[in-house]
Amino acid sequence: MNYRHIYHAGNFGDVFKHILLIDIIRSLCRKEKPFAVLDTHAGAGIYDLQAPEARKKSEFVGGLAKIMGATDAPEPVARYLKIVRDFDTSETPRRNSPASLDPSEHHPDAPRCYPGSPALVAAVARKNDRLILVEKQPAVAAELRRGLKRDTRAVVHEMDGYNAVKAFVPPTEARGMVLIDPPYEQEGEYEKIYQSLEIGMRRWRQGTFCVWYPIKEPGAHEALMDRVRESRWSEACRVEIRVRPAVDVKSLVGCGLLVVNPPWGFSDTVKSVCPWLINRLAHPGSGRWSLERLS
Ligand SMILES: C[S@@+](CC[C@H](N)C(=O)[O-])C[C@H]1O[C@@H](n2cnc3c(N)ncnc32)[C@H](O)[C@@H]1O
Repeated sequence: MNYRHIYHAGNFGDVFKHILLIDIIRSLCRKEKPFAVLDTHAGAGIYDLQAPEARKKSEFVGGLAKIMGATDAPEPVARYLKIVRDFDTSETPRRNSPASLDPSEHHPDAPRCYPGSPALVAAVARKNDRLILVEKQPAVAAELRRGLKRDTRAVVHEMDGYNAVKAFVPPTEARGMVLIDPPYEQEGEYEKIYQSLEIGMRRWRQGTFCVWYPIKEPGAHEALMDRVRESRWSEACRVEIRVRPAVDVKSLVGCGLLVVNPPWGFSDTVKSVCPWLINRLAHPGSGRWSLERLS
């Protein structure tokens, strides 16, 4: 496996996933009782958007850079942008430009540092909440540990994310969420996701489980949705955005988030965020979004 999320950091998929993730974590903060977040595929935590890897395809140009300066963003998007900006201000002095970088390629609409899911959760979680961060690649796990700078709420486990569901669910807090965000580079990923949801639902009926997935045509994710429908778990929904036309079967046209046990008010967030995002991010004539209850 040689997937590195830095090549995709800040793209439209990250923007969509991270806005909704922050909203779910904020919902957990409504009650005083602490919660735990299990991030099964955590990644490096901090991404340098000026690094050569991030610049290879500059995917953030089609995502974050298109909304960074927005003044008309709905509240959940504005909150996300503020966290990204604050994060950039606090992280940038620690990072120097690689010598190879051409200054003329600087994107004024993109920050230098982009926070991945562990950093975003850490920014919203409170002092007694807990982050269980799982990353399989040793070098990436080491980078994640470094970026956390001794945040005592977080523990990084270098292991398989699906085994982590068996190991850490349910958390002792009995409140919280699991984020499953794999690279989708291996055969059988959807099967592993379903098995993890199945175990999760058996052991932790009230836990919130989120699965990010890519949308290509024809949709490999549809079989998972059918199984979730048939499983009759308490409550589940999927949110999808499509931002590009399909050029061939390999092209990424959009992405989705499957949420089992969404928090109260989640559909209102989706209805305010998705039309706005489509307007900003989609190629002309290709923008679509949908919210579907699966239970
Ligand atoms: C899509 S990235 C994660 C992005 C991150 N969740 C975010 O939103 O910022 C997927 C990560 O999963 C890691 N990974 C791949 N297979 C894994 C596995 N079986 N268990 C845990 N981590 C894995 C990859 O090394 C990569 O860092």
